[in-house]
Amino acid sequence: MKLLIVNGPNLNMLGVREPDIYGRGTYADLCDRVGEVCRREGIEYEIVQSNHEGALVDAIQGAYGVCDGIVINPAAYTHTSVAILDALKAVALPAVEVHLSDVGAREPFRQVSYAGMACVKTIAGKGFDGYEEAVCYLRELLGAS
Ligand code: DQA
Repeated sequence: MKLLIVNGPNLNMLGVREPDIYGRGTYADLCDRVGEVCRREGIEYEIVQSNHEGALVDAIQGAYGVCDGIVINPAAYTHTSVAILDALKAVALPAVEVHLSDVGAREPFRQVSYAGMACVKTIAGKGFDGYEEAVCYLRELLGAS
């Protein structure tokens, strides 16, 4: 089983960016955490981060025929990007949306998630633990393979 983990804009600034909201862990810490979880669960993975919408679309398209599922935190593009929604629908892989913060308790503009419309599950407000939950959810969904 192989998963693609996709991270959107400004997540490379974790640790520096609004630590009261996103925590003090860095993006490298997040990558380490995802790596630990995937190794423990016997899952192959690829992790990408980009500040560019098209690069995120390319990464999602690249998962077609290569990966079995997607964990995605589209960051700000969550609330704006029909292109990312369409890419998720195009590849039609089971996808789990993750947000570090509890977007449901934040500004009104964060209440809409386009990407979430193509996801089987949304996990928000659990910090890095949300990525672990997403990986484990997809492992269960896809079965050990
Ligand atoms: C985020 C929430 C988004 O609203 C925000 O634009 C982000 C990060 C989160 O992980 O909590 O950049 O996706």
